[in-house]
Amino acid sequence: MKPAARRPLLLCALAAAAALSFLLVAPPPPLAAHLSSLLAFPASPYAGRPKLLFLLAGQSNMAGRGLAPYPLPAPFRPHPRVLRLAASRRWVVAAPPLHADIDTHKACGLGPAMPFAHRLLQEAGSGESSLVLGLVPSAVGGTRIWMWAKGEPLYEAAVARARAALGAGGGTLGAVLWFQGESDTIELDDATAYGGRMKRLVNDLRADLGIPDLLVIQVGLASGEGNYTDIVREAQKNIKLRNVILVDAIGLPLRDDQLHLSTEAQLRLGDMLGQAYLKFNSSTDSRQ
Ligand SMILES: *[C@@H]1O[C@H](CO)[C@@H](O)[C@H](O)[C@H]1NC(C)=O
Ligand SMILES: *[C@@H]1O[C@H](CO)[C@@H](O)[C@H](O)[C@H]1NC(C)=O
Repeated sequence: MKPAARRPLLLCALAAAAALSFLLVAPPPPLAAHLSSLLAFPASPYAGRPKLLFLLAGQSNMAGRGLAPYPLPAPFRPHPRVLRLAASRRWVVAAPPLHADIDTHKACGLGPAMPFAHRLLQEAGSGESSLVLGLVPSAVGGTRIWMWAKGEPLYEAAVARARAALGAGGGTLGAVLWFQGESDTIELDDATAYGGRMKRLVNDLRADLGIPDLLVIQVGLASGEGNYTDIVREAQKNIKLRNVILVDAIGLPLRDDQLHLSTEAQLRLGDMLGQAYLKFNSSTDSRQ
């Protein structure tokens, strides 16, 4: 482990600070009033219902850095049957930014999970009006995959949140949505170790959650912080484990920093993730 990579995670800042800093990236009122109503974290009447759960993990593009336009496009808006496990482990109505109280060291914006959830609800239609989705945000910006190894704080926090989600009202874990690796493109050692570390992560998660066939949907990198993005992308494509699939974000539009997915890109990615989940769920060999 290189000392340089030991950047502080700064997990100590208050959620309120993240919520306020989100307002700074947005235009002035009336957007501010609009967002503050979204940030009120209302409790949900569906909190006690069994949920189809999704663990959201990785780094900034999973946490979301897309800027919030006004009005918010429909796929990013709250829905009564889309819940979020807050940092306090309370189920609240999900409203962006979903990671405001989790990824607290940066201003969070729009990520893929709301459009993903809307895609699933849309597919379920009126026929399955009982479908309640529970999103479990756990991503933290700027993190390398070694920081997600079993025993490290991020891994343990994600497992603890997934267990809490399964316990609080119950339900089943539909998948882990994993979007990470941009920070592993800076140093060649990290890039070449990526595949092995990812495999171990999948195996550890499955063992610790007691779900041997747990679906893991990886997002193929659309960008990188360093020069070894192609090596990490190849590693992602070559994870040969059952029920690990890849949804490739390459080519989706990036923000000016050439690192973060734009709002439009996150919307498209969420939709692609939703389609991938639905396809997996309807395939005959996916039954556990
Ligand atoms: C990527 O390569 C270029 C050209 O060799 C170099 O100038 C740059 O510092 C490298 N970037 C990183 C993050 O190592
Ligand atoms: C997943 O598949 C099962 C069995 O076909 C179906 O009953 C359920 O509605 C599907 N779930 C979603 C979210 O589409």
